[in-house]
Amino acid sequence: MQSKLLTWFEQQRRDLPWRGERNPYAVWVSEIMLQQTQVETVIPFFERWMSRFPDVTALAQASESEVLQHWSGLGYYRRARYLHQAAKYFVDTHHAQLPCTQSEWLNAPGVGAYTSAAIASIAFGERVAVVDGNVKRVVARLQRLKFVMNDRALHVAAEQWSQQQIESASCAAGDWNEALMELGATVCRPRLPLCEVCPINESCQAHQEGDEPTAYPLPAKRKAFKKMEIDYVWATREGQCVLLPRNQGWNLGLYESPTREQWQGEVGELLGVVSHTITHHKISARFFAAADLDEHRQHYCDPSSVPLSGLMRKWLARCPVSDGIFELPTASMR
Ligand code: ADE
Repeated sequence: MQSKLLTWFEQQRRDLPWRGERNPYAVWVSEIMLQQTQVETVIPFFERWMSRFPDVTALAQASESEVLQHWSGLGYYRRARYLHQAAKYFVDTHHAQLPCTQSEWLNAPGVGAYTSAAIASIAFGERVAVVDGNVKRVVARLQRLKFVMNDRALHVAAEQWSQQQIESASCAAGDWNEALMELGATVCRPRLPLCEVCPINESCQAHQEGDEPTAYPLPAKRKAFKKMEIDYVWATREGQCVLLPRNQGWNLGLYESPTREQWQGEVGELLGVVSHTITHHKISARFFAAADLDEHRQHYCDPSSVPLSGLMRKWLARCPVSDGIFELPTASMR
């Protein structure tokens, strides 16, 4: 079973920009980006990130605003802040040398069991199992485990099984971990798994017993979405607009138009509504025209010069700049 999986990985693995030479910085950045985000989405962000921050020193020396700007669009911005903090920590305390063991990586901000195991095994060959959602799903099907995805018992079962495999395998630990994650991502998929082409279907109890593979792991109860309404004020002057960094709740430090509460002046007509989902909140954001523009002159800025929230990027996409002036959304875009 091990050799079938590894041969399949060698032949079928996706050619991803962080694969190949095992640069620990690239592995670290990619694993953090991949945490809540699909591979296809990550690729262009990873490439832009690596050309602007090619190593840990470049990242440590950058401003937080620039770091967030390069993350803008990936979501879960805490990941970017932690990467930045951890880069400074390695430069200040490790002479910019990245550590090679899982236990040392665990001291870095934003690095937990998953990321530390991934970096230590992929970049340094440490024989530790990586357990992510893909691995848990593969193991739940292989062993017909009737747990929901976030049940601790599934995590433990997946970790024990994979760790045993690593200890008895002669391959590189990182190849084993990546092969298992790759199988989960491309073959043993949450919906529409490709069991007929799976290299280890003979070892899969769910497949052998004729079960529906998608029955494993057990379906989790969906968390209810909370509806929220936020009113913003859209104040522009030529190609600039009033933007403020968020100082509470999510997306801390990312720039948005002032809310109606923050705006001390008069507001005018409703210009449009943006629907946006963030974690478990469905936000309905109403944008109102600013009726008095002069008082807030100090906050006018070029929106491409600051890190923007996803919601704000959606709004700006509807208000293109033409001849140096923001256009208002047309009726069909409202
Ligand atoms: N998902 C997250 N990290 C991965 C990796 N290194 N290989 C395949 N899928 C992944």
